Amino acid sequence: MTKKLWGGRFSKKTDPLVEEFTKSIYYDYKLSEYDLLGSMIHVEILRNAGYLKAGEAARLYKGLKSIYEDVKNGEFKPDERSEDIHTDIQNKLEARVGSVASKLHTARSRNEQVAFSTRLYCKFSILELQVGAANFVSSLGKLIHKYEDMIIPGYTHMQHAQAVYLRDYLFAYVEMLKRDNARLNYIFKAIKLTMGAGALAGTPIKRDYYNVKVSKFLKGLEESIEFFDVQAADNSIDSVSDRDFVIEILSALSILSMHLSRFAEDLIIWSTKEFGFVDIGDSFTTGSSLMPQKKNPDVLELVRGNAGRVYGNLVSLLTTMKGVPLSYDRDMQLDKEPLFYSIELVLSELKVLSGLVGTLKFNKDRIKEELKDESLYAADLVYYLVGKGMPFAKAHETVGKLVRYSTDYSIQIKDMTQSQMDKFSEKFVKNEILKLFDPEVSVKSKKSIRR
Ligand code: ARG
Repeated sequence: MTKKLWGGRFSKKTDPLVEEFTKSIYYDYKLSEYDLLGSMIHVEILRNAGYLKAGEAARLYKGLKSIYEDVKNGEFKPDERSEDIHTDIQNKLEARVGSVASKLHTARSRNEQVAFSTRLYCKFSILELQVGAANFVSSLGKLIHKYEDMIIPGYTHMQHAQAVYLRDYLFAYVEMLKRDNARLNYIFKAIKLTMGAGALAGTPIKRDYYNVKVSKFLKGLEESIEFFDVQAADNSIDSVSDRDFVIEILSALSILSMHLSRFAEDLIIWSTKEFGFVDIGDSFTTGSSLMPQKKNPDVLELVRGNAGRVYGNLVSLLTTMKGVPLSYDRDMQLDKEPLFYSIELVLSELKVLSGLVGTLKFNKDRIKEELKDESLYAADLVYYLVGKGMPFAKAHETVGKLVRYSTDYSIQIKDMTQSQMDKFSEKFVKNEILKLFDPEVSVKSKKSIRR
């Protein structure tokens, strides 16, 4: 074990079993750059508040900056013997700048460091997720453009319902992604980067010193920069004990994963031999070790299956947090793996789905075949009768009987004679009805939807 951030009050060395059991360095090294940014901001606060001389602050800042650059260049190696990333960075800083490093922790606790760096990690991750979601939407956009005029059978209860444009079906997913984006925006804005909580009770430093413009530490994020500014915590106890923001991200990711899973499921069904609506490119499918003919949608199945893991992570943290007394308790260390895992998983799903969408080929002939099913136009026949003055309920019943007759006697409605139709309603005019069994006429007759 490397040097700890505590130890003075202990007369015996920590048992190695305890060290191993309590460590979080294996995963919280992912907070390194955010912890370092927090420390650079803290140096500024300490200098302004008179706890550091200008020279000391400059040395600390330089040391932190050099470690930050290592992280950015991929040269940072967390020491797995350290308790956590915060300890590891403190030790690395001491190795670089010497004893002045021991002043960095003035008026600060790890409780605050953990909360601060997790909040900052979340903000950056939200931006990354939004880029991933935007890329996925743009692949959907290309597909929409490619098949702009294609019509497919629409389903309810997985039964033929009514004809719809494929583009409207795909736009339904764009709508979902728009809501996902709005949820992430809300969470991003709601995360306040607070400092000054100390361990839980606040610090002797005046509130004003904690209002730091972070723009000088973070370049290239002009748009959202105000949301990166640090502020004094309104309530120091809440500031260290709140993990709502992690739970909110996990719940937004659960909803997003559910959307991706439904999309995957639709494509899995459509790519079956029975449907044959769509072909997924070879490069995004996998084979079978025994059956040489197989081309399997494993990517989509994993997207569908992974949703369960993202939900699991949400439930895991909700359950962890429900019994944690204020303020910080070590249980809260367990928020990180579910958070990191879910974010990384969803990011990779958005990437792989964007690629997969680019390889989709819809089978026009096969879909056309399915669109011949007269039942898809039954509702249009109802509107037809309504247009001729028949009350809707009566029209619904009349067409229902006509459809039943058609199935019972295996005769297509279009093949019925005028007198056969007259038995159901004299309002039916065969020549007019024939025109209704046309997908194009059917979709164009719907005026309520945006074109
Ligand atoms: N690795 C810990 C975490 O993520 C650090 C906090 C430890 N704080 C404490 N008061 N023991 O929560």
